[in-house]
Amino acid sequence: MLEVSGLSVAYGRIRALDGIDFHVGLGECVALLGSNGAGKTTSLRTISGLLRPLAGHIRFEGHDIGGLPPHRIVARGIAQVPEGRRIFPELTVRENLTVGGYIHGRPAAADLEHAFALFPVLRERLGQIGGTLSGGEQQMLAVARALMGRPRLLMLDEPSLGLAPLVVEQLYEAIARIKSETTILLVEQNVHLALGLVDRAYVLRHGHIVREGTRENLLHDDWIRGAYLGAPT
Ligand SMILES: Nc1ncnc2c1ncn2[C@@H]1O[C@H](COP(=O)(O)OP(=O)(O)OP(=O)(O)O)[C@@H](O)[C@H]1O
Ligand SMILES: [Mg+2]
Repeated sequence: MLEVSGLSVAYGRIRALDGIDFHVGLGECVALLGSNGAGKTTSLRTISGLLRPLAGHIRFEGHDIGGLPPHRIVARGIAQVPEGRRIFPELTVRENLTVGGYIHGRPAAADLEHAFALFPVLRERLGQIGGTLSGGEQQMLAVARALMGRPRLLMLDEPSLGLAPLVVEQLYEAIARIKSETTILLVEQNVHLALGLVDRAYVLRHGHIVREGTRENLLHDDWIRGAYLGAPT
């Protein structure tokens, strides 16, 4: 469904991605893992059209989308939930969801019900100003808002960042349900958490992919266990 090949991205003279290859199949849930500065966010922002690739190809459902403007990529069915849950803080929960559904006009009642089934707290908070929600609620709203556009590929950038363990658990339960109906590309620093959810993952380091495999392979990989899962090597 999504095929990335030879992708290089730079910020001025800083090379953030150096010719990476990865793919996500229809219905799969795939993670890009790695520590701070590995290039995870850069990968998602480039797929979303927010950054221009220096080299390489991005194909989505058979079409080259590399270098297209963000609105055309959204229209093709790719939604990104950015790092740091950027909701519209001055808008209410309902307005945030409405903005998320704009490519289909108003959000359909069925889409709102779908979001409330995943995140029941949002129904109770419909009239509340987004910026006054808790961090976890804002993250739920950010995910729900992305779903309003009925994306075929949902990209999530570190949804667990800065949230309490119980909230992370709730959020990941919801993402596990989304996974049964939508293809997902997840970015996480928390390798343990991500490998509990995904089918496959790639490990990024300094702009290179240094490991890839199925969840099972990676969970039993000694290097992954030592470097990212805190197991003695
Ligand atoms: N706007 C920018 N200007 C210059 N360099 C940047 C910019 N954004 C990112 N970089 C650099 O690009 C590299 C990759 O950054 P990126 O944000 O993609 O990493 P990341 O894997 O998402 O890290 P984190 O887990 O901390 O979010 C890093 O070396 C970073 O310093
Ligand atoms: Mg990042």
